[in-house]
Amino acid sequence: MPDPQKEIDQLRAEIQRHDTLYYQQAQPEIDDQAYDRLKARLAELELAHPEFDFAESPTRSVGDDRLEAFESYTHRKPMLSLDNTYSREELIEFGKRLEKRFPDRKLTYLVEPKIDGVAVSLTYEDGRFIRAVSRGNGTEGDDITQNVRHIAGLPVTIADAPEILEVRGEIYMRHEEFERINAEREIAGEARYANPRNLAAGTVKLLDPNLARRRRLEIVLYGVGACEPADSFSHQAEIQQQLKAWQFPVLEKYWLADGIEDAWNNIEELDALRQQFSYPTDGAVVKLDDFKLQQEAGYTSKAPRWAIAYKFEAERAETRLKEISLQIGRTGAITPVAILEPVQLAGTTVSRATLHNEDEIRRKDIRVGDTVLVQKAGEIIPQILSVNLDKRPPNSQAFKFAAHLETLGIEAERDPSQAAWRITGEDDPIRQQRVLQHFASRACMDIENLGSAVIEQLVTRGLAQTAADLYQLQADDLIQLDKFAEKSAQNLVNAIEASKSRPLWRLIHGLGIPHVGKQSAKDLEAAFDSLDSLALADEETLAAIDGIGSIMAQSIHAWFAKPTNQEELERLRQHGLNFKSASHASASTGGVLAGKVLVLTGTLPSLTRDEATAMIEQAGGRTSSSVSQKTDYLLAGEATGSKYAKAEKLGVPILDEAAFRELLNP
Ligand code: IVH
Repeated sequence: MPDPQKEIDQLRAEIQRHDTLYYQQAQPEIDDQAYDRLKARLAELELAHPEFDFAESPTRSVGDDRLEAFESYTHRKPMLSLDNTYSREELIEFGKRLEKRFPDRKLTYLVEPKIDGVAVSLTYEDGRFIRAVSRGNGTEGDDITQNVRHIAGLPVTIADAPEILEVRGEIYMRHEEFERINAEREIAGEARYANPRNLAAGTVKLLDPNLARRRRLEIVLYGVGACEPADSFSHQAEIQQQLKAWQFPVLEKYWLADGIEDAWNNIEELDALRQQFSYPTDGAVVKLDDFKLQQEAGYTSKAPRWAIAYKFEAERAETRLKEISLQIGRTGAITPVAILEPVQLAGTTVSRATLHNEDEIRRKDIRVGDTVLVQKAGEIIPQILSVNLDKRPPNSQAFKFAAHLETLGIEAERDPSQAAWRITGEDDPIRQQRVLQHFASRACMDIENLGSAVIEQLVTRGLAQTAADLYQLQADDLIQLDKFAEKSAQNLVNAIEASKSRPLWRLIHGLGIPHVGKQSAKDLEAAFDSLDSLALADEETLAAIDGIGSIMAQSIHAWFAKPTNQEELERLRQHGLNFKSASHASASTGGVLAGKVLVLTGTLPSLTRDEATAMIEQAGGRTSSSVSQKTDYLLAGEATGSKYAKAEKLGVPILDEAAFRELLNP
């Protein structure tokens, strides 16, 4: 007898995990359709078992993209989600329900493309753009103004505008831009981004607006949230026209439909057209056109009853699995990848699909030579749904992960608690390459011209295995490499030399300690006066540092305890790399802010976050991402929110930009 409570709990936990991956990490593992199926199953169980409390269930919420480092802002009108369906019958039923509700009205619908981007709400006050906010949890989102204000085509002012206006739309990235950024990253030896939607979602949440500005985002607007005075609009179609008149980038096409059958015809038309749109379209949104009727139809806790999203099925195709290749990450995790006979899917040529891990291959019994059903939805990485057993070659063999590793000569082991295999041999050349790529990358030691192609040759020719080896390289060693001449060899030697004096956080990040990213590396530099004191710190001391959790503390401690790592550090020291912390150095030089911790919040009138941070650091202070007892000042811009409230509560002095400048130059 299946236990419904157990299945409900499992589904809720699984959906929550996917919500975090999608909304906060911009790294979904499954496509929308698979996700929607999980949600539909949960909703079905919850309906059948009202006895299990589901006020907190993911079927009742819109997810949450808020991050600690951002100021949050309450939408004047909540940003709701939409009920969705993949079936024509359910769409027609939706129409029938509304016809029943309004028996003597002829119902007109607006059929719009459903854009697969990142939801955003723009606030205009007296016709001036003042703020961009992410959807967040629907009620409160993150202030992402700094990363949005430079999007081309976004009007700064609009004529004849209501006093207060929230304009709703989606941010996305075009394929060309996505490819451009990935090509750059490959040259720099950094990992590729998975897909344009994730990259767009990651870009609007960058802490450095200058970095965000270097990536070209696009925006399209389709709706209005709050509007004061309130009776500015009476129909959805009118909103589309007005948005266009205000010169917002708008939907390339929408349809006015007489009745739900007509709406269906429009959806089919949209399906045939959507590949030509500049934004990714994953379905249609069908809305009652008349606002009075919308009002009367009302809302459920998370979605309007007057609208529905019809989502197009992900595209599928059969193709042959030529090979299973193994990808090795910086931490040594091994991911299997299916190499496919190229096939056209969702407007792109697909030649690879993710296989996740050993268990996934076994569960689906995927074998080399099989004909497989591949699915690609929107921007997600293609997946293998199933194997066509009728087409399986007679001599085929089950894929054996361990044996495959052995033939490739890769030493690895599988953590019994996890599905992932991990390389054990530190001297595995592929792993060495990943470690060096990370070390040399722009986010770490930023060594120019030391990209993946050069690193691969250094490793395979035995010229460098660890970071410390790089500092021994001479121009003569490098001249042997492909495409190297005397000048380029010397340039690379100089670039490597120059990296010795990088700020300490870059070295800490470059060491590749599991779980330690760029921000944590900065937090660690701020907390210690040198790499040596960091290396000696115990777990408790580490866990007490702002921004460092217990898992990270454990990981850091374990890394420094390892003899091979200690040897590597010693060699780096001998080569003269900077082990000294900058924050402590300037603290002792006695700037006005020596030893002080500042937290930034909101948008400052004339300084970017980076500029303010640089000024703070120059004056001997440092910044932190969250307000605590240890915060000396809150530097607050225009928008106020949770950090402001917390600073007030803790009695942390609050500075505006003028007071901040005054403090620096009294
Ligand atoms: S209307 C209360 N129209 O899809 C109605 N949403 O799955 C709210 N979306 O939250 C939305 N294109 O982020 C609407 N033409 C469109 C849309 C659209 C994309 C997004 C939006 C919404 C989500 C719901």
